Amino acid sequence: MKIAIIGTGHVGLVTGACFAQKGHKVICVDNNHGKIKSLQKLIMPFYEPRLEQMVRRNYKASRLIFSTDIKQAVNFAEIVFIAVGTPLGPGGGADLSQIRRVAKEIAHHLNHRYKIIVEKSTVPVGTAEEIERIIKLYAPENASFDIVSNPEFLQEGSAIETTLRPDRIVLGVKTKRADNIIRLLFASFNSKILVTDINSAELIKHAANSFLAMKISYINSLANICEKTGADIKSVAYGIGLDKRINPHFLNAGIGYGGFCLPKDISAFIHISDKLGYDFQILKAVRDVNNLQREFVVRKIKKSLRNNLKNRHIGIWGLSFKPDTDDIRESPSIYIIQKLLQEQAYIKSYDPYAMKEAQKVLPNIHYCRDPYETAYKTDCLFIATEWDIFKNISLPRLKAIMRQPIIIDGRNIFEPEKMKKLGFVYHGIGREEPQISQIK
Ligand SMILES: NC(=O)c1ccc[n+]([C@@H]2O[C@H](COP(=O)([O-])OP(=O)(O)OC[C@H]3O[C@@H](n4cnc5c(N)ncnc54)[C@H](O)[C@@H]3O)[C@@H](O)[C@H]2O)c1
Repeated sequence: MKIAIIGTGHVGLVTGACFAQKGHKVICVDNNHGKIKSLQKLIMPFYEPRLEQMVRRNYKASRLIFSTDIKQAVNFAEIVFIAVGTPLGPGGGADLSQIRRVAKEIAHHLNHRYKIIVEKSTVPVGTAEEIERIIKLYAPENASFDIVSNPEFLQEGSAIETTLRPDRIVLGVKTKRADNIIRLLFASFNSKILVTDINSAELIKHAANSFLAMKISYINSLANICEKTGADIKSVAYGIGLDKRINPHFLNAGIGYGGFCLPKDISAFIHISDKLGYDFQILKAVRDVNNLQREFVVRKIKKSLRNNLKNRHIGIWGLSFKPDTDDIRESPSIYIIQKLLQEQAYIKSYDPYAMKEAQKVLPNIHYCRDPYETAYKTDCLFIATEWDIFKNISLPRLKAIMRQPIIIDGRNIFEPEKMKKLGFVYHGIGREEPQISQIK
């Protein structure tokens, strides 16, 4: 099939490359001319495992091209995906200005040749209806089209895998004609396909992300209880995860969720619920707990340095919001570093891929060549992202180079017993010494 993707970001580029890999002809469009120029030279705009090879292969086979010309793309395609950003708006809802603009632009180039317009960006329920209204307003009278909602569930860091083999593909459709064509497009993905009405499809995305965020805030709350009782959050998470109704995934205690999706999607879901007249209390608590978790971590670091960070040297391992990506949007690591800087700590950091991005928002910290340089002569080392390189570090060498062997492990990548034996002062999340005497 002939496919256009409007918005060549983390979702649009991966989706375009995967469709091309399946043998379709794909035009990826973006209004960022620099990005498109670089892609035409096969320079990727962000790091994602396996993406570059897949883009190269399909570009060379002329199945994947990059353009800034939305008219060319709409004329060419049978199916047009909208994959532009839906960032957090000023009032806490989703900012849909990019979506509205693209809908209007697409409308201008429609005609009697039937097309499917797919809403892939994450949007509040009811947005597809708005897109349809906009298109009808600006398209010529003979324009023939249907709207489909196809929320995206890819995970950065394993985006290719989670696009080609998602747990499910959700398709919100209104007409039989669109249903038949869009099912055909996804038939080769070998995943469960759920076809539903458009509002349900839109809601599934916000509902899924909120549930994931809820699991994280729940396990972080449990971790805080563990710290007060001497229980071990890893054992507790394992114990509850064995229950099939709960499952073991997404139960890692840490420094809170981040990234481009969960924080803004949770906020947008709360916002749309408020507008619909429903006070989504659980979700508000999930958001508050997540914000608090970062503060807990800052307090933990401060406490380990006798509540005085002035001129203390702190090493930070990891800047991206999760491993295997250079995405630092809403990364808890960045937030925590900013807090430490406010207290006049001296910060050095290392991340395998995210340092270039981090330099744009944190120009005043020192960036290192490797994890050891980051730890060298530090008073404390904070682990913010669970990259494999950190898990495989030589611990005796690490201990030897630190000024004080204090580690705050925000991702629980090491075992407290082992660290203690090696002579570290080690604090994980939810894995502290018993403080049961605190119970009054
Ligand atoms: N990143 C993820 O992991 C992920 C996962 C699932 C869903 N989503 C959702 O997918 C959507 C896109 O996310 P993303 O991470 O790819 O965003 P992104 O910021 O990486 O990419 C969006 C792209 O759209 C382009 N764009 C904006 N306006 C345009 C226009 N008028 N014409 C052409 N291009 C335009 C931007 O230049 C940018 O390259 C969002 O709604 C997001 O919530 C993201």
